[in-house]
Amino acid sequence: MKQFNVGIIGATGMVGQRFITLLENHPWFNIKVLAASPRSAGKSYLEAVGKRWAMKTPVPDEIGQMIVLDAEADIDKIAAAVDFVFCAVDMKKDEIRALEEAYAKAECPVVSNNSANRHTPDVPMIVPELNPEHAEIISAQRKRLGTKRGFISVKSNCSLQSYVPALHPLMKFGVERVLACTYQAISGAGKTFETWPEMTDNVIPYIGGEEEKSELEPLKIWGHIEDDKIVDAQSPAITTQCLRVPVSDGHMAAVFVKFKTKPSIDEIKQAWKEFKGVPQELGLPSAPKQFLNYFEDPNRPQTKLDRDLEGGMAVSMGRLREDTQYDYKFVCLSHNTLRGAAGGGVLMAELLAAKGYFD
Ligand SMILES: NC(=O)c1ccc[n+]([C@@H]2O[C@H](COP(=O)([O-])OP(=O)(O)OC[C@H]3O[C@@H](n4cnc5c(N)ncnc54)[C@H](OP(=O)(O)O)[C@@H]3O)[C@@H](O)[C@H]2O)c1
Repeated sequence: MKQFNVGIIGATGMVGQRFITLLENHPWFNIKVLAASPRSAGKSYLEAVGKRWAMKTPVPDEIGQMIVLDAEADIDKIAAAVDFVFCAVDMKKDEIRALEEAYAKAECPVVSNNSANRHTPDVPMIVPELNPEHAEIISAQRKRLGTKRGFISVKSNCSLQSYVPALHPLMKFGVERVLACTYQAISGAGKTFETWPEMTDNVIPYIGGEEEKSELEPLKIWGHIEDDKIVDAQSPAITTQCLRVPVSDGHMAAVFVKFKTKPSIDEIKQAWKEFKGVPQELGLPSAPKQFLNYFEDPNRPQTKLDRDLEGGMAVSMGRLREDTQYDYKFVCLSHNTLRGAAGGGVLMAELLAAKGYFD
């Protein structure tokens, strides 16, 4: 496979740090640029990230020495040095939209973990196993932006990375209504127990904007391309409650689902077991071999035991049983900063690279 030079915009943040650890030995992608705010620009990465480094492994030597660039002021320089960028920045939504569009217009494709462009109609929001065909909208987006190479492609929110994959192979039974309660890790807020001590022995029942994202984003993922835009799916009806719980990594969800044609428990388990997406067919480097994993043990999946399954890229399910109000209920789990953030971004980039979108 061809080699690609990449930049990480927001490299000092929690998601940016994950990108660094995931790309350290990546077979296709080589980190050439690290960028962040003017507060970090001009410093070595080690100095800029300082005590915020929250990964279990140390900052790779050659990364620590790299000088951080200014994500806004150095756009042309960065675009000239790399084949595409990963972007995960904490800025206002309109500023992020402007930043991502500026990179795209500088002919530098953007693989984004930010939410700002998730509902731009010609920006694909790709979960590589579920809707890889949405990448086809990129030609329409390039027409709008007036670019040859540049485009923006986004990742969906981390809260839905367990239940949307779990429901996807069940769509053939007509998923009508979904209720999901999520139990979300503190790293999803860019925090650790050191930086957020109030989370010890605590549950916070509100995560700003999370329920809206959890209910709306699945409909874009299950949408279709029509007249140069992605049209959202009309169903299923989804309602959610999202809670912050005292775990470091891993978002759990308790899901209730009603079908048009109720399948048997065995049919659901079979659909999960047999499900494969384009990443598995293409053997993409970050793709889990078995994406959806059902545990028969009623004590599983557990956040601490199972979040790292297949490098944190697989989704686990358990406790599938009949419900009195809906047809079935089950629990599911995904690693929020791996599958749910940087890992999902890397897998999306691998898909786009394999399909020639960075050529
Ligand atoms: N954490 C997750 O699990 C997760 C999941 C999905 C999506 N996301 C999204 O990913 C993005 C980053 O999240 P995070 O948790 O990594 O945040 P974070 O830890 O707060 O990091 C924010 C990053 O943005 C940079 N930044 C802030 N202001 C900037 C500016 N004016 N210009 C350029 N860079 C600027 C920071 O640079 P400095 O160090 O120089 O300030 C830092 O690198 C957010 O949009 C978030 O919603 C996060």
